[in-house]
Amino acid sequence: MNDSIRFILNGEDVSLENVRPTETLLDFLRLKRRLKGTKEGCAEGDCGACTVLIGRLIDGKLFYESVNACIRFIGSLHATHVVTIEHLAAKDGTLHPVQQAMVDCHGSQCGFCTPGFIMSLYGLWLSNEKPDRAEIEKALQGNLCRCTGYEPIVKAAEQVSLHRPSTLFDPLEKTRTEIISRLWAMQASDTIAIASEEGRLIVPRSVDALARVLAAEPTATVVSGSTDVGLWVTKQMRRLDPVVFINHLAELQRITTGEYGITIGAGVTYTRALETIAQKIPAFARLITRIGGEQVRNMGTIGGNIANGSPIGDSPPPLIALGAQLTLRSAAGARTIPLEDYFIAYGKQDRKAGEFVESVFVPYPVADAKFAVYKISKRRDEDITAVLAAFYLVLDESEHVTDIRIALGGMAATPKRARSVESELIGKVWSEATVEAARPAFDADFQPLTDWRATAEYRQLTAKNLLTRFYLETVGAPAELKRFEEVA
Ligand SMILES: Cc1cc2nc3c(=O)[nH]c(=O)nc-3n(C[C@H](O)[C@H](O)[C@H](O)COP(=O)(O)OP(=O)(O)OC[C@H]3O[C@@H](n4cnc5c(N)ncnc54)[C@H](O)[C@@H]3O)c2cc1C
Ligand code: FES
Ligand code: FES
Repeated sequence: MNDSIRFILNGEDVSLENVRPTETLLDFLRLKRRLKGTKEGCAEGDCGACTVLIGRLIDGKLFYESVNACIRFIGSLHATHVVTIEHLAAKDGTLHPVQQAMVDCHGSQCGFCTPGFIMSLYGLWLSNEKPDRAEIEKALQGNLCRCTGYEPIVKAAEQVSLHRPSTLFDPLEKTRTEIISRLWAMQASDTIAIASEEGRLIVPRSVDALARVLAAEPTATVVSGSTDVGLWVTKQMRRLDPVVFINHLAELQRITTGEYGITIGAGVTYTRALETIAQKIPAFARLITRIGGEQVRNMGTIGGNIANGSPIGDSPPPLIALGAQLTLRSAAGARTIPLEDYFIAYGKQDRKAGEFVESVFVPYPVADAKFAVYKISKRRDEDITAVLAAFYLVLDESEHVTDIRIALGGMAATPKRARSVESELIGKVWSEATVEAARPAFDADFQPLTDWRATAEYRQLTAKNLLTRFYLETVGAPAELKRFEEVA
């Protein structure tokens, strides 16, 4: 067993032997290293004031991505490169072009949000030479500013891509080869286990080691991207012991396309899944760009979204509508079940002691199938769902419904299919009259709750209206519906 978490912080090698299982990167930076350019705003992944970059090796290549330091645990950092705002300017004080553009475009007033914005823009600058406006806005979805307004910040991003200097001076481009070899040298040769006064953390060496750890510690908390678990710690002050980190396991980070569908490893982040899903199932990919902000998508996983079992998790309804299968694994072996059977009741999933989610298989929609996903939330960006509906429809040559799967989130204690509505539709001609007649069946399927996101009546009516909308879109959307296409 190894007994330290090792990573690179800006230029320096760090090795930590005394780490609390849920010690956050933000606390470490600010309290232990006095790197106070990284700010604390919300401590829940929403505001982006704590944004830093994490570099990690994927298939031998080094990628830097923006993350929220406030909900990122130290135990998840082994063999990564943590880059904070302090690393950007040259030693003589010359600002990095991304910083200079923010100055030139008046992108800062009180300055509290500014380091976070700069780190997000820097992440974009490293990965995309000529981002368009939509790509800039996407990169900034997870950063909130309460005084400057976003236009000057977007302008700064446009300016820095327009007058892009050679990257030779850039602190990360300059050291790329050297950092790759340092990260290689840090790869753990064995499982890491650290015991502190506040509990234990374990970083298994492999998926087999993970299965063994969970067999021995069935009540351990598995942490993948920590975008849910992070908030249990920072907001609910929960004490977790032991904690098992899995975000580094390459075996869980594979995404493969086959003849019939996509297999997504439980550790694949939204960002890493996006390209493949966009090629094969574009409607699902559009939904992913509305999950959290860029930092959350760079950390969070579809596997974690499923395992968490929340009734308002965004990925389960479309996955259920597509007929996804879930593979769970333990030391005793693997089993595969229809994803919809995984969600038993609120807070209760079909996951046995010692099991973990290994992957989800997503079948491609058949040729001519119609598939749509609608997320209804108060804001377009970085908001939690009030109602989410996914529709999968196959018609025969005479326009009769031969297959229909409708799954909703935010309507019941679990993500759930609208079985009564489906029964009303199957075998019927796909027409306005059929859809109209099926709408009341939502009342048999769902008795939603009222909460601060939406009332029960709003949810029920929205679900019915989304069926009507889906129908209208399948027969050629009227212009006024198309206008909202990117929003819903
Ligand atoms: C600011 C913000 C915005 C968000 N916006 C959205 C949104 O728009 N839509 C949405 O659906 N969610 C949203 N979330 C929630 C969260 O990002 C997702 O649920 C995410 O997919 C969780 O994945 P993770 O890898 O971070 O899971 P973690 O937080 O690491 O884990 C979540 C749960 O799953 C378990 N777990 C994780 N992986 C496994 C595994 N392989 N096997 C067994 N158990 C496992 C953990 O033990 C825990 O119970 C948001 C979160 C934040 C902080
Ligand atoms: S402090 Fe707000 S996202 Fe981290
Ligand atoms: S400049 Fe004040 S919050 Fe953005």
